[in-house]
Amino acid sequence: MPAPLRIAVLASGRGSNFAALLAARERKELPAEFVLVASDKADAPVLQLAQSAGIPTTVLDPREYTDRRAYDFTLFDRIGASKPDLLVLAGFMRIIDGEALTPWAGRMINIHPSLLPKYRGLHTHRRALKAGDVEHGASVHYVTAELDGGPVIAQAMLSIETDDDENTLAARLLPLEHQLLPAVVALIAAGRLTLSEQGVTLDDEPLRKPLRWQDGELIR
Ligand code: GRF
Repeated sequence: MPAPLRIAVLASGRGSNFAALLAARERKELPAEFVLVASDKADAPVLQLAQSAGIPTTVLDPREYTDRRAYDFTLFDRIGASKPDLLVLAGFMRIIDGEALTPWAGRMINIHPSLLPKYRGLHTHRRALKAGDVEHGASVHYVTAELDGGPVIAQAMLSIETDDDENTLAARLLPLEHQLLPAVVALIAAGRLTLSEQGVTLDDEPLRKPLRWQDGELIR
């Protein structure tokens, strides 16, 4: 059996996606060791969740840095010191310097609440509703210097109902995020997913389109 995947998580808030990863590990669906939870916010609930689970945490306050890049490099040095195999951005609300990201290429993923490439950035639910979309969803993608622009690994979709508002849509999507993210991380832990110059490969075969979360599994 391969060694458990060493995972660091970077998050700014509530941490429900991190909690979903923890729960997947508890259910023995994710052979992982959480080596660090890092945040830019000292009062982020995600830190409490980590501490209750006995996982090391670190906080780096951006207000103590006048220089954005210096902040990012310090943060990533700190994360690197915990020697993760994978860094998961789970609701990290800052834009990261491209150069600070370079050493993490192929080892860093993000969960974003839209069907990328639609609606990079903020207010994704509102924008999907305003556009009159009939379908919405969440994406897990490899992180590159382009904001929410790296190669998409997998998506979960849901229909937009006529009476949906921003809150109901977010509330219906979140449980899907909680299934999608651990499923993708489990593929990485199993060594089945990689990012190369050809793009994302699963079981050594290029992904022509994102995997789709359907009926409790990821399908090609
Ligand atoms: C999620 O909607 C995620 O897709 C987005 O930020 C939110 C984080 O929620 N990137 P939580 O902190 O995991 O509860």
